[in-house]
Amino acid sequence: MDTLSVVNQKGGVGKTTTTVCLATALSRLGYSVLVVDLDPQMNGTKWMLGRELEDDEASVLDAIVTAGDNGESSSSDWPLARLTEPSDLGFDFVPAHADLANVEGEIGEKPSRPYLLRERLQEVEEKHGFKYLREVGAHNASEEPYDMCLIDCPPSLGLLVVQALTASDGLIVPVSVDGMSMQGLSQLVNTTREVRKYLNDTVEIVGLLPNNLDYRAGLVNEGLEALRKNYEDLVLDTEVPWRSKIIETSTYGTTLYEHAPSSDAVQIYENLAREVVSKISVPEAEDARP
Ligand SMILES: Nc1ncnc2c1ncn2[C@@H]1O[C@H](COP(=O)(O)OP(=O)(O)OP(=O)(O)O)[C@@H](O)[C@H]1O
Ligand SMILES: [Mg+2]
Repeated sequence: MDTLSVVNQKGGVGKTTTTVCLATALSRLGYSVLVVDLDPQMNGTKWMLGRELEDDEASVLDAIVTAGDNGESSSSDWPLARLTEPSDLGFDFVPAHADLANVEGEIGEKPSRPYLLRERLQEVEEKHGFKYLREVGAHNASEEPYDMCLIDCPPSLGLLVVQALTASDGLIVPVSVDGMSMQGLSQLVNTTREVRKYLNDTVEIVGLLPNNLDYRAGLVNEGLEALRKNYEDLVLDTEVPWRSKIIETSTYGTTLYEHAPSSDAVQIYENLAREVVSKISVPEAEDARP
């Protein structure tokens, strides 16, 4: 299972949109995908669950914080596998909880904590497999091992994001191409470097994804040129234009395949999925759906 974080500390650049639309496209191409919502805003959870999460419902918070607070080992009551739910969008997900916001500052106090999410994902992959999923009652989750996990990160470079980066093989960074967004990118690259040095020496930036492009605006082409000049091969070939259908799809909690099958955005996210797969080590899906 390859784990990719969709990350950018700037708000509103399309992290949640990219996570959900990419997960949908990957699952259409035949990959088995798990999405982890790590953002206390829970935008992805609302989209994937089709409703708000109730306060008392279990979430990723139980896996990465309760376990640490109790000083329990990774075999606590809330393995990530038990928190997975199937989404109508075609993949499984682990919901976020608003209280993730309260614990950002606490997570780093114990040295082991940056690794909690990584350990939890490793359990999903290695220890228990899907027999275990059923044993712990996650009977409705995918029956297949996951090929990929996507983590939707909050707009910060705080300790939740450090956990995500520590758990990840790669990062996808949606960017809008105005000057101010690009200033933040060097900070993100530096944080990634720090994480690589101290916590996870294999994490790499898979690619920067120019998103929400309105090609009619003159500055967009200038911005794209500057982005490709500054970050060269780090910028993905795929670009996602501004499309009202994309906004509607998240508003209605559905997929582009359902809501706007003839929109060029469908093909664009499939291109993105293929490009991402080509850059990581995931083998080709065997049972690609039409
Ligand atoms: N390509 C696009 N075309 C049109 N609208 C888009 C596109 N990408 C994202 N949006 C819209 O922009 C808004 C912000 O997107 P999104 O929520 O994905 O950003 P985010 O980075 O996850 O935000 P946050 O930092 O708050 O988590 C949403 O209303 C979304 O529908
Ligand atoms: Mg978001």
